[in-house]
Amino acid sequence: MSDGGTVRILGIAGSLRRGSLNAATLRAAQQLAPAGLTIESFDIAPIPLYNEDVRQQGFPPPVEDLRARIKAAHGLLFVTPEYNYSIPGVLKNAIDWASRPPEQPFDGKPIGVMGASMGTHGTSRAQYHLRQCFIFLNGLVMTIPEVMIPQAQNKFAADGTLNDQATRDFIAAHLAALKAWVLRLK
Ligand SMILES: Cc1cc2nc3c(=O)[nH]c(=O)nc-3n(C[C@H](O)[C@H](O)[C@H](O)COP(=O)(O)O)c2cc1C
Repeated sequence: MSDGGTVRILGIAGSLRRGSLNAATLRAAQQLAPAGLTIESFDIAPIPLYNEDVRQQGFPPPVEDLRARIKAAHGLLFVTPEYNYSIPGVLKNAIDWASRPPEQPFDGKPIGVMGASMGTHGTSRAQYHLRQCFIFLNGLVMTIPEVMIPQAQNKFAADGTLNDQATRDFIAAHLAALKAWVLRLK
């Protein structure tokens, strides 16, 4: 790595709401990151709805910013909610914008995936849809360990602190593996 060996990850949570459990998971990941790995968070809220007519006039500034940050990062971490067994439209919309040519920035990028839901499957179905998107884009999504956080409403305090030790351990293990995944693909 060019900056003293630190692995720089761009983290994207797929929910816009203030009390998002997935945004809280991303914040927990930032705190649980192993030595030598940092996670910068990107807010997808300013990204407009995809419109090919708009793209043909140039990427809107928030999309330019997202594309530049993806390119500059050594790897990505998506923390996705599950909406109707898939990923939320806001997250798909951000990926769709970023993926447009030239030089789509997901190509060859190491990627980790996590998710928190109020249901019993911890976003498993959304995560597999997200993985499917990155087949076309040649994003290199790490296979295991997976982090699927079910009934997440019972695992976070009102201020968003992740209280559940087992979940903290799963996140830490995922991040250690993501660091190794980035270094392996370097
Ligand atoms: C439109 C919509 C669809 C949802 N579908 C699912 C679902 O398929 N599976 C599930 O476990 N939870 C589902 N939920 C509940 C989410 O798990 C819950 O709202 C969660 O807190 C969303 O993530 P966030 O806290 O990061 O915003 C759905 C919620 C919404 C708003």
